[in-house]
Amino acid sequence: MDRIIVRQSGPLEGDVHINGAKNSVLKLMAASALAPGDYLLHNVPAITDVDVMAELLRAMGMTVASPGPGDLEIRNPGGLTPEAPYELVEQMRASIVVMGPLLAAYGEARVALPGGDDFGPRPIDMHLKAVELLGVTFESAHGYIHARADNLVGARVLLEFPSVGATENVMMAAVRAKGQTVIENAAREPEIADLAAFLNRMGAKILGAGTSTISIEGVDELTSVEHTVVPDRIEAATYLAAVGIAGGELTLVGARPDHMDMLCQKVGEMGVRTSTDPDGLWAMANHRLRAVDLATLPYPGVATDYKPFLVAMLSVADGVSIVTENIFSGRFRYVDELIRMGADIRTEGHHAVIRGRAALSGAPVRCHDIRAGAALVVAALAAEGETEIRDPDHIDRGYSDLVEQLQAVGADVTRVRD
Ligand code: EPU
Repeated sequence: MDRIIVRQSGPLEGDVHINGAKNSVLKLMAASALAPGDYLLHNVPAITDVDVMAELLRAMGMTVASPGPGDLEIRNPGGLTPEAPYELVEQMRASIVVMGPLLAAYGEARVALPGGDDFGPRPIDMHLKAVELLGVTFESAHGYIHARADNLVGARVLLEFPSVGATENVMMAAVRAKGQTVIENAAREPEIADLAAFLNRMGAKILGAGTSTISIEGVDELTSVEHTVVPDRIEAATYLAAVGIAGGELTLVGARPDHMDMLCQKVGEMGVRTSTDPDGLWAMANHRLRAVDLATLPYPGVATDYKPFLVAMLSVADGVSIVTENIFSGRFRYVDELIRMGADIRTEGHHAVIRGRAALSGAPVRCHDIRAGAALVVAALAAEGETEIRDPDHIDRGYSDLVEQLQAVGADVTRVRD
């Protein structure tokens, strides 16, 4: 089993490069099921979730190849098998976003039901309720949902929560529906706007993506396109946390500061200085961090995906912080690992009380998911001695070069391959 070994490090100095967003590229790949043709994506991160989505596209009948670093070529020959098998959905629940495009292109989709995960139960009821309004009917048997619609028709869809996945599934189903669909209380994440830009380039008529009201005028035809994936704001948050914890000065080359306003505000309250740089985002920290309270919310609030990094920072901040999780009930599991590293954190329901320590203490710990795993790596920069992080394959799902990039800015981090 591979391990990542981290020794206390800092200050960090130099440039890190922000890759394309995992949570955008996976949806763009799914969207390529909408129309036959050749697609070319740029700024694609070399992560294992992209490999899983490529497997899914291949299982449906497409070909996927990487002609060079950061590029992905997808060929959709048409006549796809409209199915997402359990073996792939189980590995990556984002696979369920193929439902919308398959319904739009083939009038049916057979998709395995995802189970729960480390964040707790992860239902897809909102996805189903929303596409049902467009005329979709469902049968559920043997762990699969079989969705069918002879004719998709536009509808008003009011989401009870601005779910990212549900917004994306409806948007992709609605691009070929007859008439207009309006999604109210839509998710506003930059990755939704990126998907809409991709779909519009294909010939869709989508207005308002990135706001709470998205309107989609159905079209008869879509074509394949070339597109550059939006930078990953969560990866950028990882390096902001690293510089906050280890001190120093970093430029996050390629980052989009305008997608991280709230994050910059929060880390600013903690004492990390940031400013927009011609190359991306500049960040500096030269004092011990300060405690702050925070609560996760849908975009533009503090993203739940930032929280493991913010908790890692607050573990070594001066003072007591209260962190509230409002998106995923079970997203505090990694806290036990931080506690093994000497952090003083108490969780109660969806709240955590963090009493900052001057330093953590290196220990063997385990990754449970992508972001929590990366947060352990950055927390370990402030841990005396050596931290051994097990199961780093979780990190590989969302990061292509975390260890190498941290090394390049002076962190003592290595990956031991067995
Ligand atoms: N929810 C329901 N029913 C639904 C859909 C969602 O109850 O039908 C609930 C969820 O259980 C959760 C909340 O609504 O409590 C928000 O879920 P959402 O649908 O917004 O999340 P998602 O689309 O499943 C994406 C990202 C996550 C990120 C969340 C929130 C991808 C592949 N995943 O998930 O990212 O945390 O939005 O921003 O885009 C990650 O990158 O590691 C990751 C988990």
